[in-house]
Amino acid sequence: MIIPGSASQSLAATLAEETGLGLANVDHERFPDGELLVELTEQPGARAIVVGSIVSNDAFLELLLLQDAAREAGATELTTVVPYLGYARQNKAFADGQPVSVRAIARALSTGTDRILVVDPHERSVLDFFTVPSSAASAARNLADPLPPDLADPIFLSPDEGARELVQEVREGYGTGEIDHFEKTRLSGDEIELAPSDAQVDGRDVVVTDDIIATGGTMSEAIAICYERGAARVYATCVHALLTNAARTRLARAGVTGIIATDTVERPASRVSAATPIAESLHRHDPDLLDHRGG
Ligand code: R5P
Repeated sequence: MIIPGSASQSLAATLAEETGLGLANVDHERFPDGELLVELTEQPGARAIVVGSIVSNDAFLELLLLQDAAREAGATELTTVVPYLGYARQNKAFADGQPVSVRAIARALSTGTDRILVVDPHERSVLDFFTVPSSAASAARNLADPLPPDLADPIFLSPDEGARELVQEVREGYGTGEIDHFEKTRLSGDEIELAPSDAQVDGRDVVVTDDIIATGGTMSEAIAICYERGAARVYATCVHALLTNAARTRLARAGVTGIIATDTVERPASRVSAATPIAESLHRHDPDLLDHRGG
């Protein structure tokens, strides 16, 4: 049975449809002091899958509680799917005295589960921090699905070299087009500097892809550069649309033609579901798992 975290209800429901597995009901309560309580209203079965994106500190805590509730209710083989692994950008101690935050998150999650599946982690190396078997699935290819079929001489760009693999996936999903990337330097939490590539975008449609849009600083800068250089339309695509603070406004002011994201973070832009790559990955790593439908 699939046990949904409250930040991943839509994705969990799609995953349940896709796999034929049952979808557990979870009741939520908050005590007067702010503490959370979750309650499974039915037995999830021996094999269970908890699905929860870490989009906030509460969501992380809820995920730990759901793992524990599943164990209490008799799950002996528990898979934890983390569609969006928050804190993954804090993958090193950037200054003395700082933690490797994502390592702390990974260790905590590992204590409550038998295996972990993360969708498009910021860097694949974060998987090494889990102390149970872990793997990654990619939802990037499907980002091409909502793009118009008539893009003019399209070019697929990433804001930095790190996202180039994702760009390749989107380009492959679309089927045609050139690929290139900018060079990015981060100046502060919401300020970045992009050095344009030599790519000719004049009169062409551009698709910019990143793993995350958070403050929108990176993406709006990339969009602005494309228009300065004569691009016709610029689409913003990402796996995880956090869209914090005024990100949506920043993108609109930059003139974005459309925003396409997956449902690893549930937002109006989440037009593409990560359910299929998650289901495929679950099946690949545990072929028996999906044979226990209805439970
Ligand atoms: C950073 O390396 C990531 O790949 C994204 O480019 C970054 O997280 C986007 O953040 P923001 O939207 O705040 O510029």
